[in-house]
Amino acid sequence: MASESAEPIHILGFSGSLRKASYNTGTLRAAKELLPEGMTLEIFDLSQFPLYNEDVREKGIPECVLEFGVKITSADALLIAIPEYNYSVSGVLKNAIDWASRIPSKPLENKPVAIMGASIGNYGTARAQYHFRQVCVFTNMHPVNKPEVLITRAKEKFDTEGNLTDQPTRDVIRMLLESLAEWTRRLKIH
Ligand code: FNR
Repeated sequence: MASESAEPIHILGFSGSLRKASYNTGTLRAAKELLPEGMTLEIFDLSQFPLYNEDVREKGIPECVLEFGVKITSADALLIAIPEYNYSVSGVLKNAIDWASRIPSKPLENKPVAIMGASIGNYGTARAQYHFRQVCVFTNMHPVNKPEVLITRAKEKFDTEGNLTDQPTRDVIRMLLESLAEWTRRLKIH
């Protein structure tokens, strides 16, 4: 675990759901409340992103995507909340990653990343998260392996506004943040 004198770590978080009461966005708000000493978290909203189109990119990368790239670059690590849609990553999230991967400065390259996800079913976005780990290979992001934050039966663990109320789930998110801090510091040394 990090000592209090360790370098501060700034995290950029984003959610693959645009729904107001999204459980996944709720996990990011919970993470903000659970941050270990020396960590900060900014949540970035993906709702302004256009659908990826190579013709649009050739004319100029949209301002919101460039802003996303700058924030990724200045973050020490990413925290991504991954909804599962049809056994995979939501289109909103994949679209944002596709855009970011085409920014010439390659902000995703070598970025430490932690992932988590909430679903109303019994698998807690496991299938989407494993697909996302595959995306990390091509983009060369470095995901934390454990703990896996697979939040099942979200209706029982969040209130109607999407706030995470389940204490064991809050505890595992806190563990993920501690793992991300340790992983980020370890990757910085090399
Ligand atoms: C879903 N949902 C879902 N859940 C799951 O566990 N596995 C799945 O494959 C899918 N597929 C799926 C497809 C589509 C198009 C939608 C809209 C939903 C249900 C999903 O877990 C639920 O809607 C969550 O509430 C989505 O996350 P947010 O929006 O609450 O963050």
